[in-house]
Amino acid sequence: METRRRFGATGLLVPPLGLGAGELGAPALDDAGVGRLLNGALDLGVTLVDTARSYGLSEERIGRHLGHRRAEFVLATKVGYGVEGEADWTAGCVRRGIDEALRRLRTEVIDLVLLHSCPAETLRDEGILAALDEARRAGKLRVAGYSGDGAPLAQAIESGRFGAVECSVNLCDQRGLGSSVPAAAARGLGIIAKRPLANAPWRHAVRPERPDLATSWERWRAMRLEPAGLEPDELALRFAAHAPGVTCCIVGTTRLEHLRRGVELVARGPLPPAVLAAVGAAFRAADQGWEGLV
Ligand SMILES: NC(=O)c1ccc[n+]([C@@H]2O[C@H](COP(=O)([O-])OP(=O)(O)OC[C@H]3O[C@@H](n4cnc5c(N)ncnc54)[C@H](OP(=O)(O)O)[C@@H]3O)[C@@H](O)[C@H]2O)c1
Repeated sequence: METRRRFGATGLLVPPLGLGAGELGAPALDDAGVGRLLNGALDLGVTLVDTARSYGLSEERIGRHLGHRRAEFVLATKVGYGVEGEADWTAGCVRRGIDEALRRLRTEVIDLVLLHSCPAETLRDEGILAALDEARRAGKLRVAGYSGDGAPLAQAIESGRFGAVECSVNLCDQRGLGSSVPAAAARGLGIIAKRPLANAPWRHAVRPERPDLATSWERWRAMRLEPAGLEPDELALRFAAHAPGVTCCIVGTTRLEHLRRGVELVARGPLPPAVLAAVGAAFRAADQGWEGLV
């Protein structure tokens, strides 16, 4: 895979394609298969893994299957909620969320700890920000960040309190590219593009039930993209991974063959200028004030 990219001013180096481990937490998945996927990812050079407290067994599985290869990858997780005995979005919840993640992930330090899509007010809570700073000083995390979109994302960038952000960047979610992404890049933040395939809406002949996927599906249809000779996944991944300002895009997948293909597609480089212009024009023509999907 392409040489590692500088993750903003954080000092971390990341691959252009990372693994979103959101779906790897499903209890129904074969555990040995998840282990093969996680190890296969590192073998392919997909050396950034993104997870969260709310992703079922994801953190625990990453710890168990990749704990012995911890030095080989950049590890991101998300906190802020769901800790027994602590109210959500409090300093105590963030502090204990980090400690519990360290244990589950079987690591001494988490490279990137993101506040997971909280509202903008939470990002002004000095107690929470101090809890992140303390955890960094204690060596429990390297970089604190925010994962989300819209007004809270803008607040996180402007606050100057975070070293990185994770936000939606894909064919159907281009809003951030004109605002948050350049703002974050100008401030030296590392930028992760989530949902780079827009959840692959082209795979569904009829409107899916899942609300986020349904939104992407409607946008996809409204945009009527007709990529000249390019498969939709190629169009999507070359767009997201090479979008100006984006350092790494994280594909969510449970299939190693999809990750292998993702690596190949990203290696083909940015889309040709004419295709890129058509993709931008299609978004602008169909855009109905579409905000980034959280
Ligand atoms: N608020 C937040 O913080 C937030 C929100 C959303 C996502 N995220 C993060 O971003 C990651 C990625 O987002 P996502 O998983 O929602 O969306 P995504 O990466 O845009 O799409 C994932 C879907 O694409 C399919 N896929 C993967 N490669 C493909 C290919 N080459 N061709 C066709 N389909 C393909 C996957 O199915 P298969 O399993 O069949 O490959 C999966 O259903 C998540 O795992 C998570 O880590 C964070």
